[in-house]
Amino acid sequence: IKKIAVLTSGGDSPGMNAAIRSVVRTCAFLDVECVAIYRGYDGMIEGDFVPMNARSVNNIINKGGTILKSARCEEFRTPEGRKLAYDQLIAEGIGGFVVIGGDGSFRGATTFNEEFDFPVIGIPGTIDNDIFGTRYTLGFDTALNTVVDAIDKIRDTASSHNRLFFIEVMGRDVGHIALNAGVAAGAEEILIPEENLGLERLLDSLKRSKKSGKSSSIVVVAEGDKIGKNVFELKEYVEEHLPIYDVRVSVLGHMQRGGAPTAFDRVLASRMGVKAVEALLEGKTNLMVGIMDSKIVLTPITEALRGHTKIDKELIRVSDIMTT
Ligand code: F6P
Repeated sequence: IKKIAVLTSGGDSPGMNAAIRSVVRTCAFLDVECVAIYRGYDGMIEGDFVPMNARSVNNIINKGGTILKSARCEEFRTPEGRKLAYDQLIAEGIGGFVVIGGDGSFRGATTFNEEFDFPVIGIPGTIDNDIFGTRYTLGFDTALNTVVDAIDKIRDTASSHNRLFFIEVMGRDVGHIALNAGVAAGAEEILIPEENLGLERLLDSLKRSKKSGKSSSIVVVAEGDKIGKNVFELKEYVEEHLPIYDVRVSVLGHMQRGGAPTAFDRVLASRMGVKAVEALLEGKTNLMVGIMDSKIVLTPITEALRGHTKIDKELIRVSDIMTT
């Protein structure tokens, strides 16, 4: 392979820039040409390519978002779209690409690899931490810290007014952000898709919490939660069934996806970028870079897509004990 492309795809996450930088610098170090693809697979289909060198990625390791822009591309889901993308890559002389993104991006990459036998390596970039084959995805640690910081601030005002807050956090299919942030910020209850607490138990728990003399209550709700009510409906439900509470709602939203990456995410991104380029140059393909037991490892993308990372049961137990 003489030329490697790098792109970011799907929902952005803090640390993507650090990963781009790592891929570009590793190519420069190993004397391989590097090309950036802008706007994810949209840019691949349209040939939105820009040559990169070591200096193209100066001062981005600390930046949130992605300098390459990102997109959720519908056209790449079609065989016609992928053929257009393939033709663009071949015309540019690109011999393999590194895609930084989540499960949707990986699904596209592995299909592309199977159709055209084209070398691809994935770097898991998503705040959700939901990709099998890696203990951490890029951006999870940063998002977690952002959420904890936000909940701490909400706790200040909740406590001043003796209020109950439902705080919705991201996590479309999994509750990793909710559970970890909930424990770190001392939430009274945490609602995640993996475990349905049920409305009755939520009410009981809130009653107990009030009785025990707590001055504020925080319930962290993952957006993909299965309790059957969104945060606004939960507010109404509790107001109706438990009028002892003055209830407010806060939806943290996309602020969770922004901001400077933590040191952890920067280091992880740097390590993953190096491994991704090295893997391509060693002739490996259709693999995702991950971290397991502090070691950088490779997993078939097809494996990574097989399921979501399991929720940490021990942490659920810790959370239950802490809410006493
Ligand atoms: O997958 C990352 C994520 O931030 C999810 O937590 C969330 O459900 C989704 O992306 C939001 O996507 P969008 O920015 O396209 O609305």
